[in-house]
Amino acid sequence: MDKNGIVRAVQPKTHEKTEALCGGEPVTLGALYARMCAAFAAAGVKTPDLDARLMIERRLGFGWGDLIARPETLVEESALEALEPDIRARIGHMPVSRIYGEREFYGLPFRIDAHTLDPRPDSETLVDAALKAFESGAPETILDLGTGSGCLLIALLARWEGARGIGVDRQMGALEMARKNAARNGVEGRALFVLSDWHAALGAGFDVIVANPPYIPAGDIANLAPEVRNFDPIPALEGGEDGLQAYKKIFSGLGGLLKPRGRGFFEVGFGQAEDVGRLAEDSGFSVRGVHPDLAGIPRVVEISHGDK
Ligand SMILES: C[S@@+](CC[C@H](N)C(=O)[O-])C[C@H]1O[C@@H](n2cnc3c(N)ncnc32)[C@H](O)[C@@H]1O
Repeated sequence: MDKNGIVRAVQPKTHEKTEALCGGEPVTLGALYARMCAAFAAAGVKTPDLDARLMIERRLGFGWGDLIARPETLVEESALEALEPDIRARIGHMPVSRIYGEREFYGLPFRIDAHTLDPRPDSETLVDAALKAFESGAPETILDLGTGSGCLLIALLARWEGARGIGVDRQMGALEMARKNAARNGVEGRALFVLSDWHAALGAGFDVIVANPPYIPAGDIANLAPEVRNFDPIPALEGGEDGLQAYKKIFSGLGGLLKPRGRGFFEVGFGQAEDVGRLAEDSGFSVRGVHPDLAGIPRVVEISHGDK
């Protein structure tokens, strides 16, 4: 970059890959941002400005401050070439997190891929609820049913430094990713990942059981945003005809896995908290509370053994 803030002399040759963004002409940072915002908005992307900023930062290394203070900065053609496939992917509704294979959850970095659900901010409600329930003394053992990227188990292990945990999933690809994420977040020595149909392969008792099972009714999948229905794995989303099939399977036989003073935390979909609470009670558990997410939607059902 020279003293005028120009990244490097832009080659005058036209390159077909960057034609769509700059028409083969040198393009400034400000113009690139404006064109990305317009292209994303035209494609129906819900957060065009934010996504354009994130992608420019991630791929080109220019932050929001650069966009505001130095919009006249010329962008190298090689940088445009690198960004072009990302822009196409976003116009095709691939979420930014999937384009770069990264998602932050509970302040920790996670890799994601085609085998794993993209962790949702709403699921942090579950981590908050579990941490609060054990404020006066951390638990020793955690079971995470349907671990996916491992985000729930790993976030809890990161907070409860003396705890150990098992994450199960039916997708081997998800378990491999969860293992990598455990290592990345320094908890691999305390996390075991097991291929299992829910808790079928498990025996021991746990202080904490968490799950964010697939809960979208089968008939609703087609109406989900393309970011979700085309990019999250369907086995991570679909909860049978009524969306409650996974809870029914999980609650049956779960009693022997939860220690007498243990707690279970189950994420639920919109409008499902009552039904899930009833299913838990039908299996002999008590509902200790229902925790709302940041939008005030009942998101996590907390259960324990027997009567409150
Ligand atoms: C909604 S995702 C949750 C992933 C992760 N826990 C999270 O909160 O982001 C549900 C997970 O359950 C897994 N799953 C679905 N059916 C399963 C089964 N029968 N046994 C174990 N895991 C299952 C899916 O592969 C997926 O990883």
